[in-house]
Amino acid sequence: MNGIKIRGMGRCVPERVVTNADLAERVDTSDEWITSRTGILRRHHCTAETHSSLCAGAARAALERAGVLPEEIGACVVATVTADNLVPSAACTLQRELGLPGDIPCFDLSAACTGFLFALHTVECLLNASPRKFALVVGAETLSRVTNWDDRGTCILFGDGAGAAVVECREGWPSISSIMGCHGSGELLRLPGPGAGEPGLISMEGTRVFKFAVEAVPWCVDQVLKKTGRTVEDVDFFVFHQANARIIDLAVRKYRIPPEKYYKNIAEYGNTSAASIPLVLSELREQGKIGPGSRILAVGFGGGLTWGGCLIEFA
Ligand code: COA
Repeated sequence: MNGIKIRGMGRCVPERVVTNADLAERVDTSDEWITSRTGILRRHHCTAETHSSLCAGAARAALERAGVLPEEIGACVVATVTADNLVPSAACTLQRELGLPGDIPCFDLSAACTGFLFALHTVECLLNASPRKFALVVGAETLSRVTNWDDRGTCILFGDGAGAAVVECREGWPSISSIMGCHGSGELLRLPGPGAGEPGLISMEGTRVFKFAVEAVPWCVDQVLKKTGRTVEDVDFFVFHQANARIIDLAVRKYRIPPEKYYKNIAEYGNTSAASIPLVLSELREQGKIGPGSRILAVGFGGGLTWGGCLIEFA
């Protein structure tokens, strides 16, 4: 199988910033509690923006940075659990908005916070079966719309945003070596859909999800290293899903990852689910901390439960 590399990244986040102090006016919480338990200082929430507008903003920026035209795209996958509509999908909406070809697969993928990595694996498979060389992968969420404001344990965590990648597939490039898993223990983290007969709001058993996450992250790191025959030292940058700064800190300590080899932006965005990993990649690329030649180990985990990892390179 031919591998994929990222050619360009883009991101789009809502203008409105919601601070911990703002939240403390709405629910019984404090800046001190939120900061010490999660590392989150702010998050961005949609006002005029929509899920579709965030996707389009991130995707346009990624295409521009990649120097790839919409008509060159061979597949478009949007990882999300909060699209504006179930039908048409966010990816189909993007197809029309950007003028992507009409004869390519465009669809949404639901794997919560692991969605972007599941989507990268999916487009690697799709491009191997396509005459076209490029694909658009977006991770986008408007979690502020499905937040339960009566639950102080979850409403402080989530933010809105979108990150996008234009990926290229070429003969001879190594596969991104995805590893993935899921377990349908849905009671730990739920976002009910139209058939559930209950309000479509997020609920979560935070402490149990935390325990799952601190086991899932090293499992994913170990599996990617094993599959690729690499060591921790071979990795130039570690990109972890931004759910809680403490989860990242535990992984960093376990693998003795030096500060220049990992990144946290959870303080600014909170947990943006499927958007979290592409937001990190986009910021790191812009800052020049990663680029062609960098070997990046990415790990995601989240609702489903789902988890996954892969080795990402830039073209
Ligand atoms: N402000 C103040 N107090 C709060 C609070 C808030 N926003 N939310 C909960 N509390 C209180 C609880 O009521 C509880 O009080 P009690 O001891 O009197 O009963 C206490 O703080 C501890 O609550 P707990 O839920 O045990 O806290 P925690 O240390 O587990 O932190 C999370 C909660 C959600 C931050 C943490 O569990 C977490 O990050 N979990 C994983 C989240 C995650 O990864 N989710 C997404 C997967 S993608």
